[in-house]
Amino acid sequence: MAEIQLAPKGLEDVYVEKTELSHVDGTNGILVYCGYHIDEVARCSFEEICHLFLHGELPNKAQLLDMDRALKAERAVPAPVLDFVVHAPTDEHPMALLRTGVSMLSGYLPDVDSLEPSTLRKHAIALVAKTATIAAAICRTRSGGKLVEPDMSLGHAANFLKMSRGEKPEDVVARTLDTALVLHADHGFNASTFTARCVISSLSDMVSAMTAAIGSLKGPLHGGANTAVMAMLQEIGSVANVEPWLEKALGEKHKVMGFGHRVYKTIDPRAKHLKRMSKEWGERAGNVKWFEMSEKLESLMMAKKKLNPNVDFYSASTYYAMGIEPEMFTVIFAIARTIGWAAHIIEQLKDNRIMRPEALYVGPMGKTFIPIEKR
Ligand code: ACO
Repeated sequence: MAEIQLAPKGLEDVYVEKTELSHVDGTNGILVYCGYHIDEVARCSFEEICHLFLHGELPNKAQLLDMDRALKAERAVPAPVLDFVVHAPTDEHPMALLRTGVSMLSGYLPDVDSLEPSTLRKHAIALVAKTATIAAAICRTRSGGKLVEPDMSLGHAANFLKMSRGEKPEDVVARTLDTALVLHADHGFNASTFTARCVISSLSDMVSAMTAAIGSLKGPLHGGANTAVMAMLQEIGSVANVEPWLEKALGEKHKVMGFGHRVYKTIDPRAKHLKRMSKEWGERAGNVKWFEMSEKLESLMMAKKKLNPNVDFYSASTYYAMGIEPEMFTVIFAIARTIGWAAHIIEQLKDNRIMRPEALYVGPMGKTFIPIEKR
């Protein structure tokens, strides 16, 4: 029998599907959303990006108004889901709370098992809106505050901030979060998106696929890296300690969080935007220490390991300077990525075949069976 060749570990360089949603050009450091360069669409609102991913084109003003209205109409979350968030163990990981909260929505979405495209688009809008509300409830509960009603006068990012903090955010805070959501909205066949597509490929349902994707995003090699970056910066503590800390970490073969990427061989185009935002926010907050530490780490990682920062690296110091709790960073990533997951789920179903690869069995064979009475 011919020797079976395994796919490369981690499916590196394996193309498993076609997509019209986002293109990651790792050699040139380019990210494209439905044909638009990320540097251009970074100027859009998150609502515009939701329309782009659900309809393949940027909205005109009337279409944007429709998307805004549709998202606002879906902000409310059923009381039992919010009760779960409020009464869950206080040390439960915010991403675990989000995962369970989103999973609970399946009991409340009309036609939850429908895979009909127009229903799926409705589910997508409902899940984008409600995920942000659940996330805000997690944030608010962690800070000991009472839950806040959605504010229909505010856009998606500003409303999330108000529901998280109990007060209307300054425009500059809302705009920064809006841009961060746009930058995190989709990114090719990353682990969580692939997870979502695997789940829907069995003709399951959108809530199941999203729930699984949130579980995948939680890990520190994926979306969980932004929380880990902040913990690392806090451990390092000062610009002066960056170099000795890094020497030790690399000497002990530790991974440095927020660096490296499977696809990008050059700077992650999203990191360029987030680096600028990190600097601006450090200056605005009157504390550039985290930015300066990050910049030093970036230059040392390039010199010592030839590794670039990824999207999670400068998002950590940006969010921290904006007053967001580090444990919530990955949840914010999830709020943004919900639209990407939804769009991929819909795309997978257009030309679906169940994902069913093979594993090469390397365990023992030919064992003698002994009945339970004799074992
Ligand atoms: N710090 C130190 N060394 C690293 C890092 C890092 N952050 N990333 C990669 N390397 C080294 C590895 O040790 C390995 O070296 P070796 O060949 O000498 O053993 C080599 O580079 C290749 O690394 P892999 O882990 O095999 O690369 P892979 O493509 O499988 O993983 C990943 C990519 C997960 C992003 C990796 O770079 C990593 O763990 N980074 C830190 C975690 C992180 O920031 N994750 C967020 C990614 S972006 C996102 O998901 C949103």
